[in-house]
Amino acid sequence: TAKTIIAPSVLSSDFSRLGDEVESVARAGADWIHLDVMDGHFVPNITFGPPVIKAIRDRTDKVFDCHLMIAPADPYLAAFADAGCDIITVHAEAGPHLDRSLQAIRNLGKKAGVSLNPSTPESVIEYVLDRLDLVLLMTVNPGFGGQAFISAVIDKVRRVKALVGQRPIDIEIDGGVTPETAPLVTAAGANVLVAGSAVFKGGAEAAYRANIGAIRQA
Ligand code: DX5
Ligand code: ZN
Repeated sequence: TAKTIIAPSVLSSDFSRLGDEVESVARAGADWIHLDVMDGHFVPNITFGPPVIKAIRDRTDKVFDCHLMIAPADPYLAAFADAGCDIITVHAEAGPHLDRSLQAIRNLGKKAGVSLNPSTPESVIEYVLDRLDLVLLMTVNPGFGGQAFISAVIDKVRRVKALVGQRPIDIEIDGGVTPETAPLVTAAGANVLVAGSAVFKGGAEAAYRANIGAIRQA
């Protein structure tokens, strides 16, 4: 089976040195860079948007994995594409027209993802499977880094894996990923792991390398 992709979330990095942090974590072994965009409306926190993503885009060649926690998302998809996001993931709960949002992302030439909150059933992806490149299953309630992993979602990972079947769709886990929880979700079928606090603890590149290594080994 293919190697697990590790996508550090810069939400837990030092925002005053965001470009340098992206470079450090890329050198330290990150596969993708996970970008948590929050609007203070869909989730109770505000982070950053397209101008900030554009500003750090030239710091690395790594895939920019953009997790939009915004509602509505559709009016901003082109701006995130222009900013240099490679994968754009919208929340199923953030709007009434998931099929339209996914078509719009692919029409912009980007990979399309859907994210599900912990309480959202996997059945919402059943009729959009052919429009999807990635399913992001939240193992915390979105909004903040450093929260505890919600283990009820492990069963949903298995169910999504079964729904996806042989399609080339990544299954990504976000929230509370540590060396302890990582094996639980990879065993259930996940192949992309987002980790914020577990990667950026220690505050320096050597620590990031050790932290990514610990997750990879687990
Ligand atoms: C939460 C974000 C996550 C978050 C994960 O709303 O989507 O990407 O940064 O942080 P940890 O790994 O600390 O749970
Ligand atoms: Zn995220």
